[in-house]
Amino acid sequence: MSEFLWGSATAAYQCEGAWNEDGKGLSMWDTYCHSERNEGGISGDVASDFYHRYEEDIRMLAKSGQNAFRFSLSWTRIIPDGVGAVNQKGIDFYLKVIETCRRYHVEPFVTIYHYDLPESLYQKGGWENRETAVAFAEYAAVCFEAFHDKINFWTTINEPDYESMCGYIVGNYPPHVHDVSRRSKALYHMLLGSAMAVKIFRDKQYNGQIGLVYTPSSVQIRVDNEAYRQVAENAELYYNTAVSDVIVKGWFPEKLIAKMQASGLNLDYVKAEDKAVFQAGIVDFLGVNSYNRVLVKPYTAGESTMFMNNKGKQNKTNHASSIIKGWFETDFDPKAKYNPWGSEIYPDTIYDMLKDIKQMYGDIPVYITESGIGTYDELNAEGKVDDDYRIEILEGWVDGLLRAKAEGCNVLGYFIWSTMDLYSWINGYEKRYGLVYVDYEHDCQRIPKKSYSWYQKKIKENL
Ligand code: BG6
Repeated sequence: MSEFLWGSATAAYQCEGAWNEDGKGLSMWDTYCHSERNEGGISGDVASDFYHRYEEDIRMLAKSGQNAFRFSLSWTRIIPDGVGAVNQKGIDFYLKVIETCRRYHVEPFVTIYHYDLPESLYQKGGWENRETAVAFAEYAAVCFEAFHDKINFWTTINEPDYESMCGYIVGNYPPHVHDVSRRSKALYHMLLGSAMAVKIFRDKQYNGQIGLVYTPSSVQIRVDNEAYRQVAENAELYYNTAVSDVIVKGWFPEKLIAKMQASGLNLDYVKAEDKAVFQAGIVDFLGVNSYNRVLVKPYTAGESTMFMNNKGKQNKTNHASSIIKGWFETDFDPKAKYNPWGSEIYPDTIYDMLKDIKQMYGDIPVYITESGIGTYDELNAEGKVDDDYRIEILEGWVDGLLRAKAEGCNVLGYFIWSTMDLYSWINGYEKRYGLVYVDYEHDCQRIPKKSYSWYQKKIKENL
C-alpha cells in the first residue's frame, strides 16, 4: 500500500468499555479505576462503547474519507491473566474489527499495547520486572500468529517514554510514584519487550512492517548560549534519543549512559546480552505522537518532578512543567497559547519535529500516529459541535506536515487523536479530542463535529 495514510486513532481501554465481557481479564487501569485511589470514580468501564459500536465507528471514519484506523489490542482481552491461556473471544473481537476495516477499505494500524498492563503482571512489579518484557513478547507472538495475514502495520508499544514518565515521575498513572531511577528501569524493560517482539516478528518472517510509537518533542531554547545549548542536549537525550536511538540504531546513546551514571542512576538491570536483542529489535518505521515542542533552560534547584495541570483551568502560573535534577528545567514563552490543561499550542510542532527526525535519522519512514486537541466541547442549540478552535490548530499542524513532506521528510501517514471522544486517562470524559462527539448522557450516541467535515475536505484536497 503506497498511498498516504489519513486516519484517526484510539486505544482499547479508552474507547472499548466492556471491561468484563467475553472473558476479558483485569488490567491495572481496571483495578486502579475501581479502587478508592481513583478519587473521581470515573472509569473506562463503558467508555465510548466501541466494543459494541465498532461497526458504526469504522463506517463513519470511512465515510469521512479516512483510509486508516489506528487502534490498540487489549492484552487482557486476548490473554486474561497476562501470560498463559488465550481467550478466543478476544481474538474473535479483533478479527471482526479488522474485517470491518477491510470491508470499508480502511487500513488497520495496530498497536499491540497501549498502557493497559495486565493486573497480574502489575502485581509482580509491572514494567520494573524483567519478566514483564518476556510476557509482552509472548503476548505479541500470539497477536502476530492470530492476525499476521490481515495486518500490514504493527506497532509494539505506545509511548514507553510517556507512560513511564507519568507512572514514575509525574505520578498520575499507576503505580503513582516519583522516582527517576525506577522510571529508567521501567522504560528499559518496555524497550526490551518491544525489541523481543520485533525479533519474533523478524524470525517468523511475517508480512508487513513493524514500528514503535513514542512521543518526541522538538527541544528548543530561547537563549542561544553555551549553558542553554548544553541543557538542550540533555533534554534531547531525555525526551527523544533515549527511545529513538534504541529503536533506530539498536542501542542507547553513550552520552545518555554516561549522564545517567554521573547522576547516580542505578543501571544494574542492563544486561550485556540485551544489546543483541536491541540490535534485532530495530524498527521499520517511527510512530510519532506529536502534541508539543519543549522549551528548556538550565537547571537551578529542586528534585526531579513534572507538573501537569489536571484541573483544566489554565491560568498564568499552572502550565505543565518539569525539572530533571541536574539536567534541565522547562521554560516558557510568554507569548505562547495554552490549552485549558496548560499544554502549549505551538503551530510548528509537527513541522519542527519532522525536520529534527530527518536531521537525525535521514529517510526512516515516519507516521504521525497521534495529533490532537483536547478541549471542553459542547453541543449547541442545534445539537451540533462547532469546534472551530480545533480546526484552526489542526489546520496549522497539517500544513506543517505537508510543508515538511514537500521539503523531503519521509512522512507517510497522519492520524488524528481521536476517532471519537473517549476516556482521557487523567481527565475522564471532560476533555474531548474526538472528530465525533459522544453523547455519554444518551447511550453514547455519535454526532460528527465540524472538525469531522473539515478533515473530510482536507483529505480530499490532499489524497
Ligand atoms: C497520548 C496517549 O499521549 O495522549 C493517549 O497516547 C492520550 O492515550 C493522549 O489520551 C491525550 O492525553 P490526555 O491526558 O490529554 O487525555
